[in-house]
Amino acid sequence: MRGGVVTLRAIRLRDGAAWSRIRTRDREHLEPWEPTGLSPWNARHGVSSYPAVCGSLRSEARSGRMLPMAIELDGRYCGQLTIGNIVRGALRSAWIGYWVDSEVTGLGVATAALALGVDHGFGPVGLHRIEATVRPENIASRTVLRNVGFREEGVLQRYLDVDGAWRDHLLVAMTVEEVATSTADVLVRAGRAAWA
Ligand code: ACO
Repeated sequence: MRGGVVTLRAIRLRDGAAWSRIRTRDREHLEPWEPTGLSPWNARHGVSSYPAVCGSLRSEARSGRMLPMAIELDGRYCGQLTIGNIVRGALRSAWIGYWVDSEVTGLGVATAALALGVDHGFGPVGLHRIEATVRPENIASRTVLRNVGFREEGVLQRYLDVDGAWRDHLLVAMTVEEVATSTADVLVRAGRAAWA
């Protein structure tokens, strides 16, 4: 992407220092879009909080319900992308969500990470449908979703407790039939990205 090489990998316990530094500094950037927490922001994002956060995400991952991944830009931790509520059987569906360090926004990082996540979901994970919910006011995230190929399906009224109130969200989705080759490949063919 224009910012550098974007990769996804499984989260690690040693991501804690970077996770805490970014999320503590980026409260204003992140809080308007994230589920309301039970304790104050800084208390939830200290380095000492990360082992529990990471342990809980990994426990969901071991159960097959979640894929929590670190986003790296040129090998440096800069955010997280999560595929969650993975349901098998006749549904084969999941949601996807992400956040990126404010110091590297606008460089295509989330777009690349989302494309890689979708390709992983529709490929090795075997999903048929991936959906996301986004606040209508979150123009940057709506642009990311649109650029990767998600289409809007409707409005979920008072859907999620975000930033202290029940907020409407747009429901967007893709099914595997909508992806001819891969979403990352579509970005490359459109001249928005190049393979590293
Ligand atoms: N108006 C119009 N377009 C905008 C604006 C704006 N105010 N701000 C950004 N954009 C566009 C950019 O121009 C770019 O589009 P382009 O590539 O066509 O030019 C796009 O939005 C951003 O693309 P990226 O650079 O790939 O995204 P970035 O790495 O900056 O990350 C993100 C975007 C994830 C929304 C980041 O700002 C962030 O972490 N925000 C806080 C947390 C958050 O909102 N997470 C998403 C919640 S919703 C969900 O997870 C499904």
